[in-house]
Amino acid sequence: MASQVPGLSALIKPGLIPGFKVSKAAAALSTYLLTRYFSSQSSPKCRVNMTINKDSPKVVHSFDMEDIGNKAVYCRCWRSKKFPYCDGAHTKHNEETADNVGPLIIKKKNP
Ligand code: FES
Repeated sequence: MASQVPGLSALIKPGLIPGFKVSKAAAALSTYLLTRYFSSQSSPKCRVNMTINKDSPKVVHSFDMEDIGNKAVYCRCWRSKKFPYCDGAHTKHNEETADNVGPLIIKKKNP
């Protein structure tokens, strides 16, 4: 298995730990499993949507222009409790993460 991963066999040295005999296959399997474990641990942190309609395969909202009125403010940070509308939660998100996200504001020129 180690020979299937480029460079991995050079990193794994059987018998590296005194008193333990570790085969290349066992060492490669351990490395693979640890890599998978730590990768799966970090994946949720990369998600944008942490809480909204998580049972849905895709979150989509659609509005008719006639129903928007003079002004509408839509969330783009996915942290609003009033999603898809902005409730100001982006401010806390930006402070905590050093991000710079903000809402989408749609308004009529001459209401
Ligand atoms: S709360 Fe998400 S952009 Fe304002």
